[in-house]
Amino acid sequence: MKSLPSHLEHILDLARWAPSGDNTQPWAFEILGDEQVLIHGFDTRDHVVYDLDGHPSQLAVGALLETLAIAATSTGRITEIQRRPGTPDTHLLFDVHLRVLADLASDPLVPHIKTRVVQRRAMSTTALTAQQKSALADALPAGYRVVWFEGAGERWRLAKFMFDNAKIRLTIPEAYAVHRAVIEWGARYSEDRIPDAAVGVDALTSRFMRWVMQRWERVAFFNKYLFGHIPPRLQLDLVPGFLCAAHFMLCADKPLVQVDDHIAAGRAMQRFWLTADRLGLFIQPEMTPVIFSRYARRGITFTQTEPALRLARDLNRRLLRMPGLSDADALFFMGRIGHGPAPRARSLRKPLGGLLIHN
Ligand SMILES: Cc1cc2nc3c(=O)[nH]c(=O)nc-3n(C[C@H](O)[C@H](O)[C@H](O)COP(=O)(O)O)c2cc1C
Repeated sequence: MKSLPSHLEHILDLARWAPSGDNTQPWAFEILGDEQVLIHGFDTRDHVVYDLDGHPSQLAVGALLETLAIAATSTGRITEIQRRPGTPDTHLLFDVHLRVLADLASDPLVPHIKTRVVQRRAMSTTALTAQQKSALADALPAGYRVVWFEGAGERWRLAKFMFDNAKIRLTIPEAYAVHRAVIEWGARYSEDRIPDAAVGVDALTSRFMRWVMQRWERVAFFNKYLFGHIPPRLQLDLVPGFLCAAHFMLCADKPLVQVDDHIAAGRAMQRFWLTADRLGLFIQPEMTPVIFSRYARRGITFTQTEPALRLARDLNRRLLRMPGLSDADALFFMGRIGHGPAPRARSLRKPLGGLLIHN
């Protein structure tokens, strides 16, 4: 990293803290000059059932670009970002040009780039204030809006929705393969995965899951004869789904169709999430129903497990009935939000040196 100018090192070192599904960090940085970086954005659709058409990875790449632009302001620079045309969707390229601007103020979100973190455990049920909700809505650029699900009745409705949805996640071999690869067992921190302590189950369930998840046959046996999926669904979905201030959905004004729509949505998502951190609030994304319901609407056979396909169609119908959601194809991010406590375990990031591409 000798040749990396200190402002670039500072900006990229912060940018890599952007969130990504299962902490995949689908990006790399190629330095083209003192004020020019080429960002490589990848996806994992070939082996991750959740990465439908690469859209979740594109959200993450959007979050990375937004984080980079926010970080650049702390060095007095503005950012111009252009996607290079003609590359495959699975390998996106973005030219980033930085420019010093006299008297540019540092973005107030800069201090929150590293402190923003997923909270997967129970949160306080204290409602969001009107000021918090409007600060969050204002964090979204024009063309995006937030739909809130608040109060005990709506939180219960969403908790039950997540509980039912989790049965898909925990009973299909396609998702098992992903979970096996992304959980780092016996860890409180993980640079390239999710440490089991941040997953959200208690220590005993975690030990049990670790043993069961060594082989798909064990998972299938416990699911079939002993309802093995119930304890994790209670701990990961039903209880935290109720114990939070609210659930929310982020929607665009139009359906998201192109790669660029998802990149732009990822930028909006990250501003929303960083603003939540500035307000002292935690978020847990709830992306799997967004993904499974999209599979159902497209009629895609995403698993060999027939009951899970039926459940995805049912969840899609329930999603379409959610108040305030006028077009499910405009929904790109869903989650729960609330006040602390802060999580005691978290995903870290790959070192910057490992993300640099040298040509
Ligand atoms: C597009 C996207 C989808 C995600 N989906 C989920 C999800 O469904 N459930 C969840 O608990 N976390 C989800 N996450 C959170 C990531 O697992 C998390 O950002 C990553 O592990 C890094 O951890 P950190 O955000 O605490 O730094 C998602 C993040 C992104 C950007």
